[in-house]
Amino acid sequence: MAHQVRAVVARGKGAPVSLETIIVPDPGPGEALVKIEACGVCHTDLHYREGGINDEFPFLLGHEAAGVVESVGEGVTDVAPGDFVILNWRAVCGQCRACLRGRPWYCFSTHNAKQKMTLLDGTELSPALGIGAFAEKTLVAAGQCTKVDRAASAAAAGLLGCGVMAGIGAAINTGNVGRGDSVAVIGCGGVGAAAVVGSHLAGAAKIIAVDIDDAKLETARKLGATHTVNSKDTDAVEAIRELTGGFGADVVVEAVGRPETYKQAFYARDLAGTVVLVGVPTPEMKLELPLLDVFGRGGTLKSSWYGDCLPSRDFPMLIDLYLQGRLDLDAFVTETIALDDVEKAFERMHQGDVLRSVVVL
Ligand code: APR
Ligand code: ZN
Ligand code: ZN
Repeated sequence: MAHQVRAVVARGKGAPVSLETIIVPDPGPGEALVKIEACGVCHTDLHYREGGINDEFPFLLGHEAAGVVESVGEGVTDVAPGDFVILNWRAVCGQCRACLRGRPWYCFSTHNAKQKMTLLDGTELSPALGIGAFAEKTLVAAGQCTKVDRAASAAAAGLLGCGVMAGIGAAINTGNVGRGDSVAVIGCGGVGAAAVVGSHLAGAAKIIAVDIDDAKLETARKLGATHTVNSKDTDAVEAIRELTGGFGADVVVEAVGRPETYKQAFYARDLAGTVVLVGVPTPEMKLELPLLDVFGRGGTLKSSWYGDCLPSRDFPMLIDLYLQGRLDLDAFVTETIALDDVEKAFERMHQGDVLRSVVVL
């Protein structure tokens, strides 16, 4: 039996999204049908709608989601109907070289649902990041579902599905921030603010938040930053060095994705420090550096993929910390909105005062 549900669809490049009725099939082998309770609005959704990822319109948007498994297909044993789950966009294969080497976040052959969701006229939909959760129900691979404690609010839990996990993971997984470390976070939007939170969780002694927007810096301070630097009128590298006894930070997280901030991150680290690149640049961006600085400055340069997270390890752990009051995921939920407000949320994204708008169903 197929299900008719309401969902947010991006029909063509740059066109505003529309609320439509779509058809979601019952789960086949290895698949799960999930009743969505909440889904955060991410920059990547807008990127899809603008045609910046690929041209496979119409897209079904939304990927930072939590909900309840309604039914599962043949062979599914890890999740069952009634489970409260957070969705992730990478159900890893467990068999490729990346998986076997213990780095499944680089998995070469991630799994999504095989069956297609469609518009009423039969047109096949492309679920963004293999999820499509701005919808009352969506179909995913069972491996994209991670069961977590039902006591968590869906709006907060869903955020772990993407941006907040990317930021927390950039600090604790990729950067390996440890007790007593000094950390600088360049760019304190949703991802950077989450890196501040991750650093705080990991016991960093000094957390320097850098942004060009005072409101973002204020939020970062509430989330655990010990120092803030507005790099609009201050040299970020100088300021970070000054705040770290002239050395630079043990870990620098770049969460903007621009050449000038990549450069700042490179020079703001301690000689033996680590630079974590979680901000995603565009294809035409380039960085020029004196080779002697690359050679002479030591340390480690790492990019962070989805916070180098393992959903089955990290989601339940972070939800436990949230329920204990040690991780304030609610602070990331700036506003909750209805399904038909996604387009408005895209507009507000640019005004800069929103960490996350979250659709609650
Ligand atoms: N220096 C410092 N901060 C800057 C600069 C700059 N030159 N330019 C922009 N910023 C700040 C913005 O003020 C904003 O607070 O960077 C932040 C970017 O945040 P968001 O737009 O909310 O983006 P976010 O969702 O946090 O993602 C940041 O990480 O995962 C990637 O694709 C994502 O590249 C994006 C980045
Ligand atoms: Zn996202
Ligand atoms: Zn794999």
